[in-house]
Amino acid sequence: METKKYIVVIGGMNLDLAGLSGDVYRPRDSNIGEIEMTVGGVGQNIAQNLTRLNVPTYLITVYGNDHFGNILTQECGKNSIYLDYSECIIGKKSSTYLYVADNKGDMVAAVNDMSITENMTPKFLQERIDFINGATLCVIDGNVSAKSIRWLADHCTVPIFADPVSTAKASRFQDILEKIDTFKPNELEAELLTGIKITDEETANRAAGLLNRMGVKNVFISLGAKGILCSGNGETILVPIIPSNITSVNGAGDCSMATIVWARFFYKESVSLRRVGELAQAAASLTVEVAESVSTKLSVEAVLKRSNIFKNQ
Ligand SMILES: Nc1ncnc2c1ncn2[C@@H]1O[C@H](COP(=O)(O)OP(=O)(O)OP(=O)(O)O)[C@@H](O)[C@H]1O
Ligand SMILES: [Mg+2]
Repeated sequence: METKKYIVVIGGMNLDLAGLSGDVYRPRDSNIGEIEMTVGGVGQNIAQNLTRLNVPTYLITVYGNDHFGNILTQECGKNSIYLDYSECIIGKKSSTYLYVADNKGDMVAAVNDMSITENMTPKFLQERIDFINGATLCVIDGNVSAKSIRWLADHCTVPIFADPVSTAKASRFQDILEKIDTFKPNELEAELLTGIKITDEETANRAAGLLNRMGVKNVFISLGAKGILCSGNGETILVPIIPSNITSVNGAGDCSMATIVWARFFYKESVSLRRVGELAQAAASLTVEVAESVSTKLSVEAVLKRSNIFKNQ
């Protein structure tokens, strides 16, 4: 049989607007600073990382017929993300995320206007299911509604890789854990789903083990500066971070997720759990070095080169 050669990511795509205050931040006042516009959304970030890793990637999402929608689709074009199975929703505003950071770079307020994602209904997915099931695997982010995630769990015949996005959205996966091949929550998302407070390696092991028993085959809990806990097939390994010069940790989780997806796409089942964790850490260390959520420095060569550090340990 001919090998299937593309990946589908079903999830959110936002226009992110950041208001970055200068040296002084005055609450409830007009601050002098910089305003930046970038394309974000976890699904889009994962898709963008995947195309940088040479994976043919179709992002299934929705956007509006507004100015932001034009920007979003143009950026996807530049980044080689295929939108053939996405839909422009007439009369709806594109998904937008607006935040303000203070003089230390910490976010002080944010508003997200993502109601357009409600248009990714089971009917919308039904129209695309043959294409989704023709992929090597399907990535779902937590921006998809609980009802649509349930529908996908019942109709997807290819492996499901899932990223919960945030603690507010993680519970959308609670009832379909047994249908997930590979899951990458962060510490807080894993806590929410398991009820286990993660404070150290031992508690992270327990949370991962419980997620395995709940039905997830492969669990990768990203633990920020503490690395990534990989668990599957009765094996549990903590892979530490690769120290690097940190500029911004934004998007590092999405990059880790994309690398885990790429490892399956590229190596199929022939790669060890530990090696997948190492590759994810190598990719994340490249991403934290840049201000952007997705690094233009990311490539297969760069990830493999950086991951060599683990060989000498
Ligand atoms: N403070 C940090 N120092 C070093 N590496 C970090 C730090 N924070 C994150 N990382 C790297 O990024 C990876 C993923 O990070 P994290 O656990 O924060 O995921 P996340 O919360 O899903 O991130 P996001 O949603 O912002 O993309 C980690 O496994 C690690 O390699
Ligand atoms: Mg994340």
